[in-house]
Amino acid sequence: SAIASKPTLTLRLCDPRGFCAGVDRAIQIVVLALKKYGAPVYVRHEIVHNRYVVDGLRDMGAVFVKELDEIPDDGQPVVFSAHGVPKSVPAAAAERAMLYLDATCPLVSKVHKQAILHVKRGRHVILIGHRGHPEVIGTMGQLQPGTVSLIETVDDVAAFDPADPAALGFVTQTTLSLDDTAAIVAALQAKFPQMVAPSSESICYATTNRQEAVKASAPGSDLFLIVGAPNSSNSKRLVEVAERAGSTRGVLVQGPQDIPFDVLGTKDCVVGMSAGASAPEVLVDAIITALKERFTVSIELVQTAEENENFPVMRTLRDVPLTGA
Ligand code: F3S
Repeated sequence: SAIASKPTLTLRLCDPRGFCAGVDRAIQIVVLALKKYGAPVYVRHEIVHNRYVVDGLRDMGAVFVKELDEIPDDGQPVVFSAHGVPKSVPAAAAERAMLYLDATCPLVSKVHKQAILHVKRGRHVILIGHRGHPEVIGTMGQLQPGTVSLIETVDDVAAFDPADPAALGFVTQTTLSLDDTAAIVAALQAKFPQMVAPSSESICYATTNRQEAVKASAPGSDLFLIVGAPNSSNSKRLVEVAERAGSTRGVLVQGPQDIPFDVLGTKDCVVGMSAGASAPEVLVDAIITALKERFTVSIELVQTAEENENFPVMRTLRDVPLTGA
């Protein structure tokens, strides 16, 4: 009997997608530290929000901990994650004379500096972000309690009643939805016209570019796959952006096992795909391979920006070769 031909799946593949310069740098720091100091290298929190990456580094000798007090005094280094840490963390490490390598993304550090500058100028800081996210904990932890308030939604703005409405400055988490954040900032500006903006946009280039590419490729797609982890803020935002920009459905997938084939059925279809800033390209490749088993896949690259950002690692690791023995 004749072999039935596979239906066609048009895959709109976003570019840019996946790893940003901050994630790339954080992973390099762990790898280089392992080469320079040998195992174990302790890492406080998931270095980036991706299980595949974390498992790979664990196999190489990285030991992930929640807090510094889980680390013995064995002279081995500890790396702080790309999301940034409260000031109390490097302070506690210094007190124990630990060797620490701070893998905080330079663009997160920039937000920290701008928040500190607001306080220096006599302003109460409004941080727009998601409660409990490590980046938010890290940014709030740059400031004394009582000098910063977290705003998550437009509704929070209505309820926010600062002591001095004329002395406010804001910053945001780097990985937020551009549209949601614009709405919150507009509501704040309407209520507090004297509020001061940071000197440059807190939402980073990688977040902006990934959202733009998804927006451009989502309209009319039957499904939008975002490769990323459930605790990855920027990845979750991409799912929302895809649905709002006109994809019938957006789904966060960690690997080929999560592809919702039932949604696609057996007809010709259009699928969009991108990957969050912490998702490695090998997972994108694995998903394309799985799609090809059931469909004739035709890839359309949707490029909306070119990225050339590269953040160098700290001086102490620059002499260590990344590849080779
Ligand atoms: Fe940095 Fe943005 Fe990536 S803040 S870690 S470049 S998502």
